[in-house]
Amino acid sequence: MQPLQTTSLRVTDNQLFILDQQALPQEKRWLPADRVETLVGHIHALRVRGAPLIGLSASLLLALLAERGESHFSLAQALETLRAARPTAVNLMNNLDRMKLALAEVDFVPALVAEAERLVAEDKQLCARIAAAGSALVTPGSRLLTHCNTGGLATAGVGTALGVISQAFTDGKVVNVWVGETRPLLQGGRLTAWELAELGIPCQLITDSMAASLMAQGQVDAVWVGADRIAANGDVANKIGTYSLAVLARYHGIPFYVAAPQTTLDPLCPNGEAIPIEQRAASEVTGVAGSFGAVQWAPESTLVYNPAFDVTPAALISGWVLDTGVVTPDEVAAGCFKL
Ligand code: MRU
Repeated sequence: MQPLQTTSLRVTDNQLFILDQQALPQEKRWLPADRVETLVGHIHALRVRGAPLIGLSASLLLALLAERGESHFSLAQALETLRAARPTAVNLMNNLDRMKLALAEVDFVPALVAEAERLVAEDKQLCARIAAAGSALVTPGSRLLTHCNTGGLATAGVGTALGVISQAFTDGKVVNVWVGETRPLLQGGRLTAWELAELGIPCQLITDSMAASLMAQGQVDAVWVGADRIAANGDVANKIGTYSLAVLARYHGIPFYVAAPQTTLDPLCPNGEAIPIEQRAASEVTGVAGSFGAVQWAPESTLVYNPAFDVTPAALISGWVLDTGVVTPDEVAAGCFKL
């Protein structure tokens, strides 16, 4: 496979490396991910994370395993194991469906390599198109609020919602970005704050509970988030806390936009209720851990509820910004996401 480098994926000497997103921003550490169990471990631990990136990392590993001479049978098994690594982001399943078609070819090794490389190249283009379509919706002087991390770390390109924000900043329309820290795993506080600083975009970090009062003070002009899965009726699964922001935005009359590539669409999923929501370890809520160390504040025996994602109903979404352009609520209601 040709050498490849994105913000958080690297292929060199036919080996896959991932930028450890749990070590950021304190440390920029590249970890090998050249076995299925290793990559699945990285995905579980959110060292590799973000809906598009998960799918791309799994596809690249599969191609590299094929080049290393793994049998057709073991590649088919690897594909199913990778497919089950995280349940909510449908990009993983969509990318692996395409890899499965490549695996079905007689000459499956070059087919898998070409398909994985194509998926990465396509994702870059999808991000660029989302950024251009989204920036057109941003009004000059905007103060935008975003949640979780949807930038170059989470994709092969400039990102989805963060790609829009970055493009709109370049277009001279963004004066400030409010970054929700995104408890429990702090993707906003650790990753988005880091990415925006690297891009030189002015931002202020807030705890998730501060969004309501900022909106009430008239300090938020629009909310931009990504998506892990978009159902046929337009409901969107995204990082836990997204739904609260959508409710708040509606109450305060603020536009709420979802930016995502077509690989996030799931036309076979009728609505948000049918989206599987990953439940995660109690330790993520009873304390916090990272390259800075670990601390637990809740009593050992505390029972915990820790869904990684929530569902925002289509009725609260002002626009779905895809690589194909902006989709309106009327278009979604008319069934444009259905097969
Ligand atoms: O658990 P994570 O960090 O993988 O969750 C990520 C999100 O919810 C993102 O908003 C989504 O995957 C879109 S990334 C372009």
